[in-house]
Amino acid sequence: MPATPSAPTRELPELLVLLEPDALREGLLHDARVGLTAASRTLPPKYFYDDAGSELFEDITRLPEYYQTRAERALLAAHADDIAAASGAEALVELGSGSSEKTGLLLGALAAAGTLADYVAVDVSPGALHGALELLARERPAVRVTGVVADFERHLRQLPAPGRRLVAFLGGTLGNLDPAQRARFLTDLAGGLTSGESVLLGVDLVKDPARLVAAYDDAAGVTAAFNRNVLRVLDRQLGADFDPDDFDHVAVWDAEAEWIEMRLRARRDLRVRVPDLDLDLAFAEGEEMRTEISAKFRREGICAELVAAGLEPAGWWTDGDFALVLALRP
Ligand code: SAH
Ligand code: AVI
Repeated sequence: MPATPSAPTRELPELLVLLEPDALREGLLHDARVGLTAASRTLPPKYFYDDAGSELFEDITRLPEYYQTRAERALLAAHADDIAAASGAEALVELGSGSSEKTGLLLGALAAAGTLADYVAVDVSPGALHGALELLARERPAVRVTGVVADFERHLRQLPAPGRRLVAFLGGTLGNLDPAQRARFLTDLAGGLTSGESVLLGVDLVKDPARLVAAYDDAAGVTAAFNRNVLRVLDRQLGADFDPDDFDHVAVWDAEAEWIEMRLRARRDLRVRVPDLDLDLAFAEGEEMRTEISAKFRREGICAELVAAGLEPAGWWTDGDFALVLALRP
């Protein structure tokens, strides 16, 4: 009997863990204590993305009201070749890579340009990385795929640098940092690059507030479920007894700061116990807790932020709603 040819062996993606589960929990303990005991309560958005939260985010990207993902995909499809040529990258490093769903467009263009050898996906969510990377490794056997569990606000200097890098930060996630966090992040990012390496940002643009509010308060209630899911994370991780149904989802446009705020508003007077922080919290009916900002940008503003961080804007592609910005480290 003829021997059955074996399938070509494919290396499984490597997983590098810079953010250990204990450190993530320590961070949550600290951030939840600070945020939940503040006069105006807040929670950082990175805790949205447990497995359920990552799936809810993927559902959001398919909503009719949430134009960002479709707009960014179309911009990448149209301009990935220009971006690849301008970057000359040997390695694509993606921050907050999530499902890496649009990344194939950049990988395809970089592979066609003939320089690409590595793809490094960086995310705080191991669940999101696992699903995305196996698929990519199968689709792109010529590229070495590495997943890194890390916090892009803490671990930028420890990321692999297997060759001349293009660092992609897509989806508008830069807008989830406040201006001071953004300045720190961009300066840290620029400082860790060597001359000739580049950064590609996907940023959402300022537009009609009604469209923005609809994008963050969709008719099917998916964004509301995503927002309330952060309370389930606190219940599971900190032993808290939040009932997500006690809170309404709120999305507000702040015209001065030019960002959308997501909040959770208590439906009644209630008390919440957080045993791992030894906290007893009182919420008055109508009291709001901020769970996310999503800043919207203008060309002059984002380019000034890049220059202030030590980067040189080198490309701008937009459909009027969303933009891709390429910047080089001089
Ligand atoms: N880039 C993808 C996913 C955007 S969702 C897209 O464009 O569709 C935001 C992603 O960033 C999530 O996968 C989340 O887990 C990740 N993330 C959020 N805060 C992070 C942080 N501080 N460090 C690393 N990843 C983070
Ligand atoms: C990941 N980030 C850019 C999304 C955003 O639009 O700010 C997260 C999100 N929040 C609500 N809907 C989507």
